[in-house]
Amino acid sequence: MYKDKIEEINEELKSVFTNIDKEQTLENIKVEYMGKNGKISTLNSMIREVPNEEKKEFGMAVNNLRNTFNELYSKIKEELENKEINEKLNNEAIDVTLPATYIPVGAAHPIERIIETLENLLMSMGYDVVEGPEVEKDLYNFELLNLPKGHPARDAQDTFYIKGEEYLLRSQTSPVQVREMLANKGERPIRIICPGKTYRRDEDDATHSHQFTQMEGLLVDKNITLGDLKGTFEEVAKKLFGSGRETRFRPSYYPFTEPSVEMDISCFNCNGKGCNICKGTGWITVGGAGMVNPIVLKNCGYDPNNWNGFAFGFGIERLAMLKYGINDIRVFYVNHDLKTLKQFNRREY
Ligand code: DAH
Repeated sequence: MYKDKIEEINEELKSVFTNIDKEQTLENIKVEYMGKNGKISTLNSMIREVPNEEKKEFGMAVNNLRNTFNELYSKIKEELENKEINEKLNNEAIDVTLPATYIPVGAAHPIERIIETLENLLMSMGYDVVEGPEVEKDLYNFELLNLPKGHPARDAQDTFYIKGEEYLLRSQTSPVQVREMLANKGERPIRIICPGKTYRRDEDDATHSHQFTQMEGLLVDKNITLGDLKGTFEEVAKKLFGSGRETRFRPSYYPFTEPSVEMDISCFNCNGKGCNICKGTGWITVGGAGMVNPIVLKNCGYDPNNWNGFAFGFGIERLAMLKYGINDIRVFYVNHDLKTLKQFNRREY
């Protein structure tokens, strides 16, 4: 009897939708009842057995069954979807009161900081950054810089030679000047800075290291004066050691410059009054410089009658020691742990 059948399915629907926790189960139920061979779909074929006067009632009963099924199905489907969304929200919720995860951040090495500061300043003044090889020819490191073999000034730079006397580990960054002048064939003005490693046969102690860092500067053009060099140095001094710094030149001697000077800044610690950092003088020497010696210009293919210029050299470790108050140069080459490096994040001017 179709009525029993309909009643039976109706009863089933009451319990079949309980305890469903997966979409897939729900879809299986749909196939079981509403699919092509599903329990509700196949009821239609029973209509032949139904007496004519009951056919209408039968049709309505089947329809009701469908509606009941669809209602239950939609309700459970919506519940499942809501459950899924809520789970997602719960799992992905961010508790803003939790302490942040510690993300270690690096810190630039003080040597690198000084180089970068100087590069940024001097590049803004039209200088290009140029590098040269650390294994250098004696010719470029000394000879063409007016330091012929046997020149007493060579003694100040006790040098690592490599296989005989022709090659060496550069004892200064000045050979990059030579390379740049030769490359420009005496034809073009030059404005370069050259940071890099240098080597000398020094015993390592608090102020000496067999490997250290320099930055060379070279400007070649026409009608350049010592005043241009002074102005450039003033900018460097202020950038590195603050706007209050005074600068001065003291006469000196380098074979590759004539005249040569030592570049001093007024002591940033005592403002010139005299303290232990400036050894009571009120002044601190931070580099060497001068007008490029005409002999060097000539050696490197520039006609000294048409061209002149200035050059300067800074010891980067010395600048970093002064700026960051470090009293042992060896600190730069060991102890690369973050705690040490991070101290230098402060103390910028
Ligand atoms: N090369 C020199 C040194 O190592 C530093 C220096 C002094 C470089 C004067 C220069 C300069 O370019 O003009 O002691």
